[in-house]
Formats: sequence, structure tokens, C-alpha cells
Amino acid sequence: MKTDIKSLIMEAANAAREETGDHIESQFTQRPQWPIDCTVGPGLEGAIACESAVGYVNGTAGRLIYRGYDVFDLCTHANYEEVSYLLLHGRLPNEAEYKKFNETLIKDRYLPLTLRQLMGFPVEAMNSMASLRLGTLLLRQTLTSRDLDDDRPDISTAIGADEDSIAMELAPLGKEHATYEFKQEQKKPENGLDNAAEIRSCYHLIAALPTIVAAVHRVRNGEMPIAPDAELSHSANFLYMLTGKKPTPTEEKIMDVALILHADHGMNASTFATLVVASTLSDIYFSVGSGISALNGPLHGGANENVLYTLQEIGNEQNVESWVEKTLATNEKVPGFGHRVYKAYDPRARILAPLAKQLAQEHPEHMELYKVAAKLEEVMISRLGDGKKIFPNVDFYSGLVYSAMGIPPYLFTPIFAVSRVAGWTARTIEYLQNNRIFRPRAIYTGEFDKTYIPIKNR
Ligand code: ACO
Repeated sequence: MKTDIKSLIMEAANAAREETGDHIESQFTQRPQWPIDCTVGPGLEGAIACESAVGYVNGTAGRLIYRGYDVFDLCTHANYEEVSYLLLHGRLPNEAEYKKFNETLIKDRYLPLTLRQLMGFPVEAMNSMASLRLGTLLLRQTLTSRDLDDDRPDISTAIGADEDSIAMELAPLGKEHATYEFKQEQKKPENGLDNAAEIRSCYHLIAALPTIVAAVHRVRNGEMPIAPDAELSHSANFLYMLTGKKPTPTEEKIMDVALILHADHGMNASTFATLVVASTLSDIYFSVGSGISALNGPLHGGANENVLYTLQEIGNEQNVESWVEKTLATNEKVPGFGHRVYKAYDPRARILAPLAKQLAQEHPEHMELYKVAAKLEEVMISRLGDGKKIFPNVDFYSGLVYSAMGIPPYLFTPIFAVSRVAGWTARTIEYLQNNRIFRPRAIYTGEFDKTYIPIKNR
């Protein structure tokens, strides 16, 4: 079965190469001399935020490259663990490196303390992305370079008096009463990054997010979280923790391909949000928490959930034409279409589309929805493909793939985060090597010289 999925990916890759070629956009691939001139539109469209060797989205050719490797080849031959290592370290691991990396990831899947803390919150009543963000921030309690013991004030000297002698009931009245006095100087991280500790935190985040997502899912359904299985791959273990069943090789490969496809994607909104926070020398957990928040929006990672609801709303193939007519007439955006960078077919959708079809054939109850999607793609491309260069994006087929694997819509965006954490962390590590705090300007369009009017006269 594994080879079937592989050949589907290879067919999609060949179609992409034949249709679009591999023209490299020189304006986005040559080292600039800073400062640079660029034409910037609203939403920072066209702005160059930084240099990066992590990945390249070729919007003209519809190609996606991670560290020099075409994502089609990585989906065919690699697994998510290798791809994460590649993104973080800049090269594929050799056998010994892979073994060590994998052992660390497996160890970091286990989160008894974090899960216990997380279960203290009403996660069953919370939005699943909110629970994931909360869980991610709780992970920080156990491992961050900012909190390593040698960065903490020494407890014995930290407080200038023993606790019993501090008159807690007294309001502080100045120096004399300022009893809480941290005497040990905090060490400032050099170069914005304690690399050894931060890379360890990146591994921790990559390994731990699936456990949090799966635990939240189980609790939402009135079930106990399932402990990770050290014998399973990253993707198989994730599916196992979600469902309680060991996945088939096909399911494992499809989840792995989905995770690889979402792992990195240039300077997208959630990656940028992650870097903005990291650039303040906040830490990687806070930074990834911001990435999760940005990814949640329906214009970004949240679109995959909306795609499924849209397909369900359309209901059947016959309704597609009239639905599109009505939606475009009111200038509404169709979820799962369009992209800021791709002006060609999104390579990730190229792979996910045949996988969605294959799964629909294996699970006929999903065939009707797949047919609606295929028809919607056809109608949208015929109306907006040539002119506005609107094609399906990654979110269009990912929901169908997950649905056919029995995964509910509220998990679609968290799964996106489970994958994208590799790209967020890899780019953070890279950016902090030459950190400069992000600080664009806004054009002030307000008034000047107004005279203050007391409230009672307004
Ligand atoms: N449906 C219909 N028309 C669209 C769509 C769409 N999904 N996307 C863009 N267009 C049209 C716009 O109306 C606009 O037309 P106009 O020039 O006549 O005004 C033109 O195409 C350009 O669109 P913009 O909104 O300017 O493109 P932008 O780069 O700002 O937005 C975005 C990209 C946000 C992804 C947009 O296409 C969209 O909202 N898509 C739907 C949501 C979605 O699928 N998001 C997931 C993106 S992938 C990801 O984040 C993982």
C-alpha cells in the first residue's frame, strides 16, 4: 500500500514539473545587499523581512523547497522526523544523527506533568487551538533556556530576608521595606540565543505538540489521554494517541505526507508572528505560542476547517455552479482557494488531491464530499484561474484527507501546527543568529494640534 501512496505522489510531482517547470525567481533567491529597496503593499506584501536558507516557496512555478530539496521528493522518500531534522540543522541526518534525534523526540513525547497541568483547565470547553496554545506555554515550565537553573536567582540569596521576617501585611514604603531584592545578576544570552538549549527546546516542541493535541482531543470526547508508544514513528504515534488504534501503513504514510507538506512555508503569517516574538528575545515557547495564535485565523491555517463546512453546505455536485455564482457575486472568498505567494497550483494541494481521492475510494461514505470538492475546483479554476491566478491551496484538500481518516474538523488546524512547529522553530533558530528586533513603521494618518477638552465639556 505504501508504494501506492508513493506512486500517487510521484505522479503529482511529474504533473507539476511538466505543467510549470522549475523557473527560479531571481529576485527572491539572490543574497541582497542590505538595506534593500522593495515595493511594499498593504499587509507587507512584497516586503523582504530577512534572509533564510530554510525554505523557498516558488510562487510562479508552484514549487516548494526545504533546504534545497523539492517537497515532492521529501514526501516520496523521507519521513517527518528526517524533514524536521533537515529544517532545523540544514542537512539530512546520517544514521547515527537520526537515531539520536529520534530517541530524543521519543523521550520528549512523554508529558505527564504538562498534561496534568493542562487538565486543570476546562479544555473540553475550549477551542482546540486555544488548548494547544495553553499546553505549549505550559511546556515552557519544564524546559527553556531562560529558565535554566543557572539563569535563575539563587534561592538562598534571592530574597533579602527570610520569609517569616517579611512583614507581608505592610505596604512597601520605600527602600527600607523593599525586602524582595534579587541579588544575583541575570545572565544575558549572547547573540540572542543559547543555541544548545534552544535547539533542545525545538526538539521538545516538535515532539510534544502531538501529545498535547491528542490529549485535548481525548478529553473533549470524555476519554483519558493515551500514553505515547515509543515503538511507533512520529506520525503513527500521533494517530495512535488520537484514536487508540495503531494505524495501518497507508494511514501512517498519509499522515506523514500531510505533516511533511505543512512543515514550512516561507514567511507566512504564523512564521512571521513567531519570528516577531522571538526577535524580542522572548523564548521559543512564547514564540511558538504566537505562531499557533496566528495560524488559528480563517485566512491562514483556520481555512481547512472552513473548507469542510463549505463542502458540506454545498452538499452535492449539482449545487456547485450556483453556489460559486452566489458567493463570488457577493465578493466573498471561497475557503481553500487563493494564496498570497502562489500564482500557480499549490504543490501541496497537488499531492493532497489524489490522496483525498484515494481515501474517498477506500471510504465510499466520503465520496460525495470529494466529488463536490473536485467540481468546486473545476468551477473556481475556470472562473478565476486564468485571470486572478486563483487555485486550490493546501487547505482545500487537507480537510478531506483528515476527515476520511476519521479526524474531526476541530483538529485540522491543530494538526497543521503539529507540523508547522518544525518550520517555526527552524526559522527562529536561524533568525536569532543575526537577530534584529522587528520594528516596521506605520504611516500616521491622524490629526495634529488638537486641544484637550475636559470631559464635562465634550
Ligand atoms: N475566493 C474568491 N476570490 C478570491 C479568493 C478566494 N478564496 N482569494 C483571492 N480572491 C480574489 C480576491 O477577491 C481579489 O480579487 P480582486 O483583485 O478583484 O479584488 C484577488 O483574488 C486577490 O486576492 P487578495 O485577497 O488580494 O489576495 P491576498 O494575497 O491578500 O490573500 C488569501 C490571500 C488571504 C489566502 C486569500 O486568497 C483568501 O482569503 N483565501 C481564502 C482563505 C484561505 O484559503 N486561506 C488559506 C491560505 S493557505 C494558508 O494560509 C495555509
